[in-house]
Amino acid sequence: MREWDPANAATADIDAWLCLINDVLHADLPDEPPWRSDHVREYLAVNMPEERRLMWFAEDDAGTAADGGKVLGSASLLLVGGQTGVLDLFVRADARRQGIARELLNAVAWRANAERRRTLTVEVIGGTPGVRFYEACGFHRTLVEVRHVLTLEHVHWPRTEQIAGQLANGYRVEYLPGGPPEEMLEPYARAKLMLRHLPGDDFDIDRMVSIEANRLRASLSTLRRRGMRSYVVVVTHDATRQVAGLTELVVPAHRPERADQYDTLVVQAHRGYGLGLAMKARMLMAMRDDEPQIRDVVTWQTLEMEQMARVNSVLGFVPDREWYEYEADVPELLAHLSS
Ligand SMILES: CC(C)(COP(=O)(O)OP(=O)(O)OC[C@H]1O[C@@H](n2cnc3c(N)ncnc32)[C@H](O)[C@@H]1OP(=O)(O)O)[C@@H](O)C(=O)NCCC(=O)NCCS
Repeated sequence: MREWDPANAATADIDAWLCLINDVLHADLPDEPPWRSDHVREYLAVNMPEERRLMWFAEDDAGTAADGGKVLGSASLLLVGGQTGVLDLFVRADARRQGIARELLNAVAWRANAERRRTLTVEVIGGTPGVRFYEACGFHRTLVEVRHVLTLEHVHWPRTEQIAGQLANGYRVEYLPGGPPEEMLEPYARAKLMLRHLPGDDFDIDRMVSIEANRLRASLSTLRRRGMRSYVVVVTHDATRQVAGLTELVVPAHRPERADQYDTLVVQAHRGYGLGLAMKARMLMAMRDDEPQIRDVVTWQTLEMEQMARVNSVLGFVPDREWYEYEADVPELLAHLSS
């Protein structure tokens, strides 16, 4: 077991991590596009200002990757704000069921405890061995989402173009490669906050707007430095100049044929005018021109997201597989692992 830092690591370590990820993808999700080497170091090393990533390798007896040894597994602990750590664990397919993941998890749990983290969370893909592993280690499921995929080859482009052009009167749509410009950050932040906090909440939205705008600025810069290209479509309400809706999409340099749909939202007062559908259709039209190598777009839906489900199905997204979030209490996990 060796802790390593992707920012200063030898190229052999970065290559070994990439090789491991592709081995695991091939074993568990053979239909996923493999990762390329573009920006992998930055993807691992660059974090949001208040976040820190710690990483470990499990290696065979021949030594480190630089010495010709083989990396058998990897763990990452992302220290996000508050008392939570986000975990990631992979073990090569030909080295499984030998206790390697359990050993890596033990190292992560001790460090999480030393860093005063109360909870560890992890994203687990339905139908992979991760489900049984985390349940065997005492994690419990806190969220179920369904990943939906839109294969661009199956998109009905004339209809999508028509939907993109059907914007209700009084609204303006803008496509913004690179994300919202500086002068739009505050209205953009306000729209995001309005979705999270409903009218009647004891919440001072005006005070929060500049904090949220700063967070967005940092997030856009972090994405850029990690080699993740951001695109945003925004609908503005002419009369109030407010951001009425937005949709965000990211194309990672390490896997540019698959785009990740991030947030899509329409502010409550502007719902029912087809803005969600028009924005997402506009984004697809833009991607066809600006990122022509994209083969599919993926998005995650919880079962409660009824309106978004309708928008996604009109555009041609189809359900793919379940995606879970698991969680463990750190002291309980340490007790479990030592028992
Ligand atoms: C989940 C994973 C990390 C487990 O690695 P591992 O080294 O094989 O796990 P361990 O040997 O430490 O297993 C510990 C315990 O977990 C449980 N477990 C792990 N894999 C299991 C499986 N396939 N079936 C049933 N139980 C399993 C068992 O209880 C096991 O103890 P046992 O072998 O004494 O019965 C590994 O399968 C992996 O990398 N999966 C892919 C992760 C992923 O996210 N893939 C997709 C995205 S790229």
